Amino acid sequence: MITILSSLLPFFIFHILLIITMSSSYSIQDNNYYNTKNTLLQCLSLYSEPSHPISEVTYFPNTPSYSPILQSYIRNLRFNSSTTPKPLFIVVPTHVSHIQSSILCCKKFDLEIRIRSGGHDYDGLSYVSQNPFIVLDIFLLRSIVFNLKDETLWVESGATVGELYYRIAEKSKVHGFPAGVCPTVGVGGHFSGGGYGNMMRKFGLSIDNVIDAKIVDVDGRVLDRNSMGEDLFWAIRGGGGASFGVIVSWKISLVPVPEIVTVFRVEKTLEQGASDVVHQWQYVADKIHDGLFIRVVISPAKRNGEKTIKAKFNALFLGDANELLDVMTERFPELGLVGEQCIEMSWIDSVLFWYNYPVGTLTDVLLERHSSQEKFLKRKSDYVQGPISKIGLDGIWKKMVELGKVSLTFNPYGGKMSEISEEETPFPHRAGNIYKIQYSVSWKEESNDVADQYLDKIRKLYDYMTPYVSNSPRSSYLNYRDVDIGVNGGGNVSYEEASIWGNKYFKRNFDRLVEVKSAIDPSNFFRYEQSIPSLSSENNIMAE
Ligand SMILES: Cc1cc2nc3c(=O)[nH]c(=O)nc-3n(C[C@H](O)[C@H](O)[C@H](O)COP(=O)(O)OP(=O)(O)OC[C@H]3O[C@@H](n4cnc5c(N)ncnc54)[C@H](O)[C@@H]3O)c2cc1C
Ligand SMILES: *[C@@H]1O[C@H](CO)[C@@H](O)[C@H](O)[C@H]1NC(C)=O
Ligand SMILES: *[C@@H]1O[C@H](CO)[C@@H](O)[C@H](O)[C@H]1NC(C)=O
Repeated sequence: MITILSSLLPFFIFHILLIITMSSSYSIQDNNYYNTKNTLLQCLSLYSEPSHPISEVTYFPNTPSYSPILQSYIRNLRFNSSTTPKPLFIVVPTHVSHIQSSILCCKKFDLEIRIRSGGHDYDGLSYVSQNPFIVLDIFLLRSIVFNLKDETLWVESGATVGELYYRIAEKSKVHGFPAGVCPTVGVGGHFSGGGYGNMMRKFGLSIDNVIDAKIVDVDGRVLDRNSMGEDLFWAIRGGGGASFGVIVSWKISLVPVPEIVTVFRVEKTLEQGASDVVHQWQYVADKIHDGLFIRVVISPAKRNGEKTIKAKFNALFLGDANELLDVMTERFPELGLVGEQCIEMSWIDSVLFWYNYPVGTLTDVLLERHSSQEKFLKRKSDYVQGPISKIGLDGIWKKMVELGKVSLTFNPYGGKMSEISEEETPFPHRAGNIYKIQYSVSWKEESNDVADQYLDKIRKLYDYMTPYVSNSPRSSYLNYRDVDIGVNGGGNVSYEEASIWGNKYFKRNFDRLVEVKSAIDPSNFFRYEQSIPSLSSENNIMAE
């Protein structure tokens, strides 16, 4: 396939195509739909391998599978409405040549590509654009190939992290991988944006354990770590893959997990002392044993008919219950953890427990790719670098009760996260962060007015939190995509405009990402609302 692409044949064909294209004067508003479609298909076919016909995996709006395929990986119902812009067509690659030809033809036809692996982008950027676009839907590329001898594997971007965990556990009881808590998250977006989960304090992020990758670039070349070079390999580990190319697969190092781990879930309302325990948690959670991850989920609740706040402490400990109790008694007695609250299980069962499956659920559920209860939602993020005072926390609880509906999840940092420098990967939130906050609001009513009310609530709480969280920049986690935090220029913004969210997501790494982008994709073909901008060719500082 690479041979055919690198031969001169396509360039010759390209000239013929240009003539066809010009005579059909392509434009999306045209009623010239069938001409356009045929020309596009011709282009796609010309660039792909005859043994893997791309026409069989290309879905135009008049094919019955178009809507089901489009809808099946929409994870936020806000972007499942009839007014949401739809792709001109969808390509579901089953072979890398389908990716190559999609890139080359979209470039010719000036169409945007939205790359989707698991579709969990909180603001739908993997399948919605305001400009003419196609969706490259990677979900069928999901093979996982082990090399247990050196404790590594190759996983394709369309696998979910749940599938990855399942396949690892199938092979070994003492290996795992540090990635997200939600099993349906796609590897493609998750890894390229960082990827954290409940083993982060022990092993860092997913990207800290990625050792190679295969990417298709703007010229249709398939590159691995060696041929892409260390700058691009650096950029796609946390800089967001979709600014640089289509990442087909990742080579990861597995991490050791004990045969028995321990989990617990403890809830406290304000009346039960939640405020003091959360206050104390801030002094402990990032410094305690690095095999212990205690997340706190804080939400408005009712107790005996009265409005209150509930704090749920969810934990994973990479060790047995006795050792966990020792650690907790010594370091965090305020939670009052007792033996009966600790549950010992295998690492793979702890994955299910953390996703709220009842104890005893078969691990096969990890192979399910769809959640049964999709919602309308909005998420935002912040980093906390100094403990919030008791008075501060009381004010936050009051605000949350007043607004209602919005929850906060506190995820502790420290441990391995503090040992990795800010520049090691584009993900800069390392030493100095006690915890990350995720803001979340979800609803079920399909109405723009209702949506506006919920969006207003989460934005108000975010504003209220300003004095308590990181500033200059006020940092955000790329994988908690938030289009509120800067100018929305549809992928065509200046360096200055992009740096508003760029500094929040990447801090000082933003400039290096811009350099890599300008070198690998100077024409800014791979673009979306929050893609890394390319400096224009005349002042391209990377020109070699
Ligand atoms: C229910 C839920 C739970 C979550 N839990 C966690 C968690 O525990 N930890 C955590 O870190 N994050 C979590 N996230 C956030 C998640 O990591 C991000 O949304 C991630 O980007 C999703 O990856 P995806 O492939 O499913 O998404 P997609 O929507 O497919 O992609 C997200 C972004 O990556 C790009 N992209 C996708 N595939 C590729 C590819 N192959 N090549 C290049 N670019 C690509 C897309 O174009 C888009 O910009 C959660 C999200 C949800 C909805
Ligand atoms: C998305 O919209 C379609 C068409 O209105 C609908 O059939 C489908 O059920 C929706 N998806 C979800 C998960 O609600
Ligand atoms: C990007 O924006 C610039 C300046 O606003 C404009 O000249 C250019 O045509 C835009 N490019 C695209 C692809 O929209």
